[in-house]
Amino acid sequence: MNDDYRSPLDDEFDAIASELWENNASWWQTGFTLGADPEYEEQIIPMLREHLAGSCRILDIGTGEGQLTRVAAHIAGVEYIAGIDPTWEQIEEAGRRAPDIDYVKAEASHIPFADGSFDTVVACLVFEHIADLPGAIAEVARVLRSNGTFLFFLNHPLLQTPNSGWIDDHIIGEQYWRIGRYLVEERTVEEVEKDVYIPFIHRPLGNYLNLLAENSLVLTRMEEPPPPKGFLEKAPEYYEAATIPRLLFLRLNKA
Ligand SMILES: C[S@@+](CC[C@H](N)C(=O)[O-])C[C@H]1O[C@@H](n2cnc3c(N)ncnc32)[C@H](O)[C@@H]1O
Repeated sequence: MNDDYRSPLDDEFDAIASELWENNASWWQTGFTLGADPEYEEQIIPMLREHLAGSCRILDIGTGEGQLTRVAAHIAGVEYIAGIDPTWEQIEEAGRRAPDIDYVKAEASHIPFADGSFDTVVACLVFEHIADLPGAIAEVARVLRSNGTFLFFLNHPLLQTPNSGWIDDHIIGEQYWRIGRYLVEERTVEEVEKDVYIPFIHRPLGNYLNLLAENSLVLTRMEEPPPPKGFLEKAPEYYEAATIPRLLFLRLNKA
């Protein structure tokens, strides 16, 4: 654990973020878990299953209501699974949905496990909500054993920059994908559906990759899958949607 990197801005953002996640945990639980979301069902969960093969001790950071830990529980040979999340509403629901898995209320930048405790660490759609990125990545590296694996899923930071999206230009008769201010690190609170506000931090991809490299986490696989069929069916008007990835997956190994 290392608090050297923290700034007062991080503390302020974390306080707002924490309240928003507590208030809106049910938005996540009802809209994105237990089969409700095609991106999880058709893409994230199958990719996770494939990359978890051979893991014995697994930590899921920002576990939410625990859907990925429940997937991990069915991987052959797994001995121990833990999930951490700073949101009570998520941790309590995770415990109700899988009483046999260990869930702990904790931040990514203060992981309550000893050095080298896990051979696989998972973080899915979490780091784009974390202010203390250097602290969180240092913690991933600390709790992984040597040659352990970090399975890192992010909303694609290049193509999903704030204010990016489809433009349907009727005047020139073209549809195209607009990219927002990619190079600007930006903290936003987005209204993801009516009256549901979620905190996000956009960072250029290099910010992630350089910190991972500085913590001896070496890239061994990168995937930018097209949105899955179930997602595209919800947006048939955007016939080019399959060419713009929403997800970025990195597999890294601790040197
Ligand atoms: C989009 S949900 C993803 C949940 C889960 N990983 C999944 O894929 O179903 C993001 C989660 O990140 C958690 N989170 C927010 N800030 C965090 C932090 N600083 N450390 C760890 N988790 C955090 C939230 O409480 C929320 O449960």
